[in-house]
Amino acid sequence: MMEEKIFYFDRPGKENTEMTLKLALERAERKKIDHVVFASSTGYTARKIIEMSEGKSLKLVCVTYHTGFYEEGRSSLDPETEKFLIDNGVRIVRQSHILSGVERSISRRLGGVSRVEAIAEALRSLFGHGLKVCVEIAIMAADSGAIPIEEVIAVGGTGRGADTAVVLRPAHMNSFFNLEIREIICMPRSKRR
Ligand SMILES: Cc1cc2nc3c(=O)[nH]c(=O)nc-3n(C[C@H](O)[C@H](O)[C@H](O)COP(=O)(O)O)c2cc1C
Repeated sequence: MMEEKIFYFDRPGKENTEMTLKLALERAERKKIDHVVFASSTGYTARKIIEMSEGKSLKLVCVTYHTGFYEEGRSSLDPETEKFLIDNGVRIVRQSHILSGVERSISRRLGGVSRVEAIAEALRSLFGHGLKVCVEIAIMAADSGAIPIEEVIAVGGTGRGADTAVVLRPAHMNSFFNLEIREIICMPRSKRR
């Protein structure tokens, strides 16, 4: 048995980034967790976490949007930011999003909704976008071999920045239901802005 604190933000959003990262890094240190996996589309959250984790021996894994998310063939991270992250020891994961995938193209073209998109929407609606992102990026990072299948910290946000952090045991895409969210570190109480 154990007791842990959960920090609740009033609302989701980028303004919660620093507090989320502070709490996530403290939990990693206290629990002796090596890997922190986080979402960063433009590098904003990534640059903050590099700054805030200076001097700590953490393995930072940045999961970013798949190439072409905004525009065909283009990455959401500009080359200069990408180089800065790599030079600072951050591993970058960029691959197809597992909670949308090809199903998103089918839903957009033909309508309806797939089972995978229903899982994503249930996580977003019940727990907030940030928690859905924690689940998704942990699987993407595990499938890329960037994190082990053991307890890691995952950090996600709502559109921009970070507002949710959890301790989870990831799973691979082909064993989704083995993923376990073990601790919620922080999340917004209200899920919609
Ligand atoms: C793979 C992936 C999926 C994401 N899905 C969502 C989502 O469903 N809803 C949402 O509000 N944000 C989503 N995001 C945004 C992240 O939660 C996070 O806020 C953002 O990547 C931070 O980027 P920044 O560091 O450039 O601000 C997603 C990001 C990634 C990389």
